[in-house]
Amino acid sequence: MAILISPSVLNSDLARLADEIERIEGADYVHLDVMDNHFVPNLTFGLPVVEQVINHTDIPADVHLMIEDPDTWAPEYARLGAASVTFHAEASAAPIRLARELRQLGAKAGIAVKPATPVAPYLHLLEEFDLILIMTVEPGFGGQSFIEGTLPKIRAAREAIDASGRQVLLQVDGGVSRDTIEKPAAAGANMFVAGSAVYRSADPATEVAALRSLAQKAYYTQA
Ligand code: DX5
Ligand code: ZN
Repeated sequence: MAILISPSVLNSDLARLADEIERIEGADYVHLDVMDNHFVPNLTFGLPVVEQVINHTDIPADVHLMIEDPDTWAPEYARLGAASVTFHAEASAAPIRLARELRQLGAKAGIAVKPATPVAPYLHLLEEFDLILIMTVEPGFGGQSFIEGTLPKIRAAREAIDASGRQVLLQVDGGVSRDTIEKPAAAGANMFVAGSAVYRSADPATEVAALRSLAQKAYYTQA
């Protein structure tokens, strides 16, 4: 399975968002962190900004909703043309119904779990999702340290995905950098969000390529 890199613009210069997205040439997705100051203690942007980004770039949008009531709001992001829409398991009242709705609207349906939330309940429902996001920091802010205690969940999710034979993306988000990416890759993650590692580097496109090559070398291969 291919390694996918999805840079997060959270820590980019948001006043120059269009220019910042042009700097990640070669990225597979652009990761857009929507925060509502309720589900997480931070506030970013919502539908109008995501709509402009989708209209402006050819890089597919990977929308990460850190909001309450995704059951109401997530479909709107799918309607805008987001390639994938990921909502939090902790926030959704009806995750299966929501995932089905997102797929019907043409988006990949993703479900995210915070570091302390078990992923096991969703591993029996892999046919309902295109993407599982294991948060490797507490959601809310960029620039935090990778939490190694999440690695067993990544391994468990990889095992279940391989056993299912389905093409479910296994994404990690938080604290991913050249120093840390090999661990989740070896544990079976194949889609990597990186915010500060990419945007604090002198050349974001080079950083994307470097992360991809490290992950490719370390990636878990099925026995
Ligand atoms: C955090 C966001 C991340 C964030 C990652 O809640 O979901 O996408 O941008 O930033 P880094 O890579 O700096 O940890
Ligand atoms: Zn994110």
